Amino acid sequence: MKILLASSEVFPFSKTGGLADMVGALGRAIVNAGHEAVIVTPLYRGIREKFPALRRVDWHFNLPLGQQWAQAELWELKRKGEAKVYFIDNPGYFDRAGIYLENHISYADNAERFIFFSKCVVHLARYLPWQAEVVHVHDWQVALVPALILQQKNAGWANPPATCLTIHNLAYQGVFPAEAFALTNLTADYFGPDGVGVEYFGLLNCLKGGIVFADHITTVSPRYAREITTEELGCGLDGVLRENAGKLNGILNGVDYTDWNTTQNSHIFKPYSVTRPSGKRINKLELQKQVGLPADEKIPLFGTISRLAEQKGVDIQLGALEEMLNSDIQFVQLGSGSPEYERGYRELAARFPGKVAVQFGYDENLSHRIEAGCDFFLMPSRFEPCGLNQMYSLRYGTIPIVRATGGLDDSVIDYNENALKANGVKFHDYTSRALAKAIRKALAIYQQPQLFRQFRRNGMKADFSWDKTVEEYLKVYQSALPRA
Ligand code: ADP
Ligand code: GLC
Repeated sequence: MKILLASSEVFPFSKTGGLADMVGALGRAIVNAGHEAVIVTPLYRGIREKFPALRRVDWHFNLPLGQQWAQAELWELKRKGEAKVYFIDNPGYFDRAGIYLENHISYADNAERFIFFSKCVVHLARYLPWQAEVVHVHDWQVALVPALILQQKNAGWANPPATCLTIHNLAYQGVFPAEAFALTNLTADYFGPDGVGVEYFGLLNCLKGGIVFADHITTVSPRYAREITTEELGCGLDGVLRENAGKLNGILNGVDYTDWNTTQNSHIFKPYSVTRPSGKRINKLELQKQVGLPADEKIPLFGTISRLAEQKGVDIQLGALEEMLNSDIQFVQLGSGSPEYERGYRELAARFPGKVAVQFGYDENLSHRIEAGCDFFLMPSRFEPCGLNQMYSLRYGTIPIVRATGGLDDSVIDYNENALKANGVKFHDYTSRALAKAIRKALAIYQQPQLFRQFRRNGMKADFSWDKTVEEYLKVYQSALPRA
């Protein structure tokens, strides 16, 4: 099969969260499974400098954006054993300090930037000599691609590819004033009426357009696939998703163990594995030193890495830690996002000197070191479509403490579910109290070395390899293809 993947971020070129990891890994997994994959993504600032092997393609094109036209140049990167990547170059739109925002404020022209990007994706799907059979788009930034393809099909594109939309996070829908619809150059019938177009309460809703027009929809865990059809977690689109439930399914993300492993990883201090676990100790001591905590292997060390967004449960985490830090524990956090949450963590660190270390900003190296050095990883999300860090934690022998929601529930096993296979601690209520109780359970496990080792071993042995996951995507692609 020939699959074109389109995403506004792709690891290792650009990343704000798990979306980038997932798309990068999926591209590699499709190729490893013996199929062809091409990735299309914007050329953001700094990519060319970091990847000097990028080559300019002798092909540029102008595309309409409402009444105006915008130009794209194209760069490509070929790497052995990897999906080929095309980068859309338009300096006005993409050569900026941020991907979506700067100084915590979204770019005012995000509708224009990503509608333009979506049109470039469609243009490549149509005019590249390599003809994709399926175009697989990710999140709202490219969710209008299926509608754009459909319009061109109706206008005479003979054999357009099938389309698949993956929803990584329903909370981000790409909602813009109705006027932005003109930028799509879609005919008015794509806007509405009710239910069947990109319109939602009078506004342009890009993700809804994807849900309505894509041939297939997936989301990143089975439980989240069920949750988003409920009013509680449907973010207003549960009705539309229920209507389209026949083409929706949940596939738990895989982990790219070539990037996320503890045996061949230049980020961490010392390699270790399930059969040779002793190196984990060194990673803990070195992490404590690096972040300025007393280096003491006996003190249980809790960690977290996340976007500081409402989704991630920062509020209940601050409350629970406030209570739990009175006992002999340490906590390290890495995150970036809301200034208000940053302040919360800074205040916590000030109140518990020598027990709390907080780091802000994006730091890939430190993220591996936290995964490798901690005893427990906290992920108390309000909702979590999949979550990757709990799966990275398992492999790194760092026991995840998670709220039982979305992919967290699907990937972690609590003692109450299976005493022999347990690899993490789950809690249910979205409260500081429930999280504090889960932390106390974790401490009880920590105090029983044999049990603690068993949790750790179970976690390190858990296998979320992409070679299994990709089979599920291949099935979806297969079913989306027009029958011969
Ligand atoms: P989400 O995509 O909702 O942010 P995931 O758990 O799926 O959550 O993925 C988050 C990814 O982003 C992980 O690879 C994590 O290590 C990384 N990450 C998040 N915040 C930071 C940060 N401040 N520095 C480095 N990596 C980060
Ligand atoms: C989103 C979700 C996260 C998921 C990631 C990759 O950012 O918030 O839960 O793991 O996408 O699919």
